[in-house]
Amino acid sequence: MDFSTIKTSLDNHIFTITINRPDKLNALNQTVLDELNEAMELVYKDEKIKAVIITGTGEKAFVAGADISEFVSEKDNEGENLAKKGQDIFFKIENCPKPVIAAVNGFALGGGCELAMACHFRLANTNAKFGQPEVNLGLIPGYGGTQRLTMLIGKGKAMELMMTGNMIGAEEAKSLGLVNYVESPENLLPKTKEILNTILSKSPVAVSKVIAAVNTFYDPRKNGFDEEVKLFGKVFESDDKKEGTAAFLEKRKPAFK
Ligand code: COA
Repeated sequence: MDFSTIKTSLDNHIFTITINRPDKLNALNQTVLDELNEAMELVYKDEKIKAVIITGTGEKAFVAGADISEFVSEKDNEGENLAKKGQDIFFKIENCPKPVIAAVNGFALGGGCELAMACHFRLANTNAKFGQPEVNLGLIPGYGGTQRLTMLIGKGKAMELMMTGNMIGAEEAKSLGLVNYVESPENLLPKTKEILNTILSKSPVAVSKVIAAVNTFYDPRKNGFDEEVKLFGKVFESDDKKEGTAAFLEKRKPAFK
C-alpha cells in the first residue's frame, strides 16, 4: 500500500505501522489520521496480519500530538467533527480483534499519548515522555484522552497531568501503569516483538475474546460480567479450545490455526 505519512511493513505476521513525519515530530495531521484508518482497515481484513506494532520514525518522537498548525486553519465550529473523527479511528485500534501494541520511542504528547493509550498496551524506551499538554493551547484532549488516561492511571493523577500539562518520563509512566516495560532504544522493538510472539503462539480466537472482554469493563453501556459469560460461551465451542485442551491432555504443544 502507498502511504505518504506512515510506513508499514509485515514481518512474520507482525504488521508495523510507523508514523513518519519526523520533521514535525510525527504530529498527527488529517492525512496521518486517514492513512492510519486505512492501515487499520487492512489489519482487520488481511489474514496474513496477526498482530500490530505502532511506533514513530526517529529517535525523538513517537507522536508529539495532533498537528497544531491545522487547528489554527480549521473553522471554529469544526472542533466536534475533528474530535469525533480521531475518536472513531482510535476506537478501531482499541477494538481490533488482533493485538495492537504501542512501542513509544520518544515524545507521546496530546494525540500521541492518546494514540498510545488506544493500543492494547504500551512499551516505552528510556527517552519516552508522556503528557496531555492541551491546556497550554486552550484545549482539552479530544481523541479519548480524558477517558483513557483516567482508566489507566486513576482520577487524581489523570486530573493533575491534564490540568498542569506536565510531562512525565518513562519510569514514572511505568510506575503509574501507563506502560508495561521500559527498554533501551535498541531493545524497544525486539522486546515488543518478543511479547507479540508469545501472544501469537496462543489461540487467536481466545486472544481476540480477551480483548473484547477486557474492553467491556470500560464500556458503561455493557455489563462486563455478562459479556464475559457470552464470550466464554463462544470460545468454548471453538476449534482452538478443542485443540488446546486435547494438546494439554496429550502432553504436546497446541497447533492453533
Ligand atoms: N503540531 C505541529 N507541529 C509540531 C508539533 C505539533 N503537535 N510538535 C512539534 N511540531 C513541529 C515544530 O513546530 C517544529 O517544526 P519546525 O521545525 O517547522 O518549526 C518541529 O516539529 C520540531 O519541534 P520543536 O518544537 O522545534 O522541537 P523541540 O525539541 O524544541 O520541542 C516539543 C519538542 C515536543 C516539546 C515541542 O515540539 C512541543 O511542545 N510540541 C507540541 C506538543 C503539544 O502541545 N502537543 C499537543 C497538541 S494538541
